[in-house]
Amino acid sequence: MKTLWQMTAERHKTVHPTEKPEKLLERILSIGCEEGFTVLDPFMGSGTTGAVAKRMGCNFIGIEIDQEFFNIAKERIARTMSLTEMELAHLF
Ligand SMILES: C[S@@+](CC[C@H](N)C(=O)[O-])C[C@H]1O[C@@H](n2cnc3c(N)ncnc32)[C@H](O)[C@@H]1O
Repeated sequence: MKTLWQMTAERHKTVHPTEKPEKLLERILSIGCEEGFTVLDPFMGSGTTGAVAKRMGCNFIGIEIDQEFFNIAKERIARTMSLTEMELAHLF
């Protein structure tokens, strides 16, 4: 493999056993995703992709077969603020 990405490991935010670091998803989504785009993760797990997509101002569709992981992801994404929301919250 000619190209390797190196990034510092992150502490898990959920109990999902294969949770990905948010920094990794930020890097992947920033390659082809712009504000207003829609991101689909058909194996959503604990919702890392959804949280990062929302922060970037993207729409998100997530599919997860496990009800517990689905609930964790739904709550995590709901708690995540987009960058625009963060800027607005900072103003008031
Ligand atoms: C590798 S994990 C995803 C990790 C996730 N992207 C994250 O960063 O947190 C794969 C997930 O796919 C789910 N899964 C497996 N088969 C599925 C199916 N047929 N439909 C929907 N979800 C499925 C598993 O329950 C598991 O949570």
